[in-house]
Amino acid sequence: DKGNHRHFMQKEIFEQPVVVAQTLQSYIRSVEQKVSLPQMDFELSSIDRVTIIACGTASYVGMIGKYWIEQLARVPVEVDVASEYRYRDPVLAPGMLGVVVSQSGETADTLAALRHMKAGGVTTAGIINVPTSSMAREVDLLLPTHAGPEIGVASTKAFTCQLAVMAALAVNLARAKGKLTAQEESEIVRHLIEAPAAINEALGHDAEIEAMAHTIAQARDVLYLGRGPDYALALEGALKLKEISYIHAEGYAAGEMKHGPIALIDEAVPIIVIAPSGPLFEKTVSNMQEVRARGGKVVLISDAQGLAEAGEGCLATIEMPKVHPLIAPLVYAVPVQLLAYHVAVAKGTDVDQPRNLAKSVTVE
Ligand code: M6R
Repeated sequence: DKGNHRHFMQKEIFEQPVVVAQTLQSYIRSVEQKVSLPQMDFELSSIDRVTIIACGTASYVGMIGKYWIEQLARVPVEVDVASEYRYRDPVLAPGMLGVVVSQSGETADTLAALRHMKAGGVTTAGIINVPTSSMAREVDLLLPTHAGPEIGVASTKAFTCQLAVMAALAVNLARAKGKLTAQEESEIVRHLIEAPAAINEALGHDAEIEAMAHTIAQARDVLYLGRGPDYALALEGALKLKEISYIHAEGYAAGEMKHGPIALIDEAVPIIVIAPSGPLFEKTVSNMQEVRARGGKVVLISDAQGLAEAGEGCLATIEMPKVHPLIAPLVYAVPVQLLAYHVAVAKGTDVDQPRNLAKSVTVE
């Protein structure tokens, strides 16, 4: 049931404050100000390497997880898409935690990668939305997302719930590795608890995004740029736009622009820049200026501070609340989803059932 929404995708985007809160609730012990994981029969402290495997949108959760886990727990992380991982004869080592991320828990390549890791004696965990799925049954440690059924082919609420669980995993690993004080942890808990309200605030920009979608809908190509976790969001934004609006879109690490893609820039190419204020902001803005100098039309997604510094001269800006870097990807995912959604609606495509795509890819 779509309720009063036009599409399941729209309904699912707007459900995010509730389902992210629901998901976080099962990982946060608010009285103790701690993040907890379900019971496991291995020692997290013995993990000295993490490999995250997934497909599509779920693989971008892996990329963001890499930034978080390496930064917080100082454990090296490798991320790969399942279709590459399973055939490349990866090195499996003791002390490794293999993490699969999947909404359906049935994606053929991810399931095969999971089985490959298990057969090699690797301890596995799964961030999975469907609790009865094959992956949910086969992982050593099930880390459920509580997004509820996701009907739209474009993944939205599963993504932000997966991020919430990934954050919980990163924090637990950091504590187990002795890299996090109780005070730091309670600080993180405080920020995580703020995430649903910040997501809600981001949703408040819906009408504004809908208005600019008509311009973007005219484009033949769209570029998305970001650094750090926002590079993964750039990839997510481009994937979302491609799959439901059929506009060609690419996500790039902002620093890679001058290594090739800048050749594509002219007045006809909108560039979506995802850049919360923070240590990487100036760097991304300088890439943005390079693009603008070549006539590129920029949509800057940032917070008040970022927009005050760099918003002038943009085609449009979208103001996000000021949030802690750990929850920023959960919040900045929203405008990226809404933009794809409204562009697709403007183009009149089948938003929930885009051509050539299936919700769950159970064949390789
Ligand atoms: O069910 P899964 O999370 O394993 O699915 C993975 C991808 O097929 C999925 O995220 C796909 O990329 C989405 N259609 C993206 O919106």
